[in-house]
Amino acid sequence: MMNDELIPAELIQILRTARRVVVSTGAGTSAESGVPTFRDAQTGLWARYKPTELATPAAFRRNPRLVWEWYAWRRELVTKAAPNPGHLALVQMQALMPELTLITQNVDGLHQRAGSQQVIELHGNLTRTKCADNGYLVDSWPPTEDVPPHCPHCGGLLRPNVVWFGESLPEETLFQARAAVRQGDLFFSIGTSSFVQPAASLPFEALDSGAKVVEINPDRTPLTAHAHFALYGKAGEILPTLVKLIWS
Ligand code: APR
Repeated sequence: MMNDELIPAELIQILRTARRVVVSTGAGTSAESGVPTFRDAQTGLWARYKPTELATPAAFRRNPRLVWEWYAWRRELVTKAAPNPGHLALVQMQALMPELTLITQNVDGLHQRAGSQQVIELHGNLTRTKCADNGYLVDSWPPTEDVPPHCPHCGGLLRPNVVWFGESLPEETLFQARAAVRQGDLFFSIGTSSFVQPAASLPFEALDSGAKVVEINPDRTPLTAHAHFALYGKAGEILPTLVKLIWS
């Protein structure tokens, strides 16, 4: 648990009176669950690859097997991981605040497993699979040696249902996220490098619509200078401290 004195009294007041809160999370929120972030160097088998070079349509076209196996490895890692105190504090905040919309760039499903409700997944979810050709979600396919397996409907290659670099976000998902942001009076940006669009524009839309913006991250990001409050540290330490200070 972090030192309570690092949380400004003004922020505590704002949190106690906030009505519509929007929280936007990135890979840093899952770091304390042992899920590596996108900017971290990879370890073990995958040390020679950069995530940013595997999570692209071009990589899948070039070597679908490699990309499928990378996601299979990450799926296993995520299945074994457990939500951390940061995820759990967000569940408590959602229960305690009048309205809290959780938007995430994470594809690991840890917010939902922690118990957060109605999570808006901007970049999809790696536990789901779709056809690379027709886009349909596919729950199961006949046993096969093929990697990746083929779509049971059209024979196309199967791929994880995530948004890769250079791909568009599902329109409806982005619409929902933006609508929540425009109506919010308090916005949290947690554990994201704030580099990847359109997610990185959400806190700026919040600022434009007059919301207070809080960033939680051990490092500075392109958002830091614009945020009303920058709390430097780990999500799994700062979020439980906020909950304790405000609602105990
Ligand atoms: N608590 C809070 N923040 C943390 C923690 C932690 N314990 N550990 C690391 N961070 C911060 C890092 O300082 C960094 O700013 O989390 C951020 C992780 O940044 P990225 O790896 O770039 O993750 P993210 O912003 O979610 O990436 C965006 O890029 O690769 C694509 O689609 C992928 O959704 C991903 C998107």
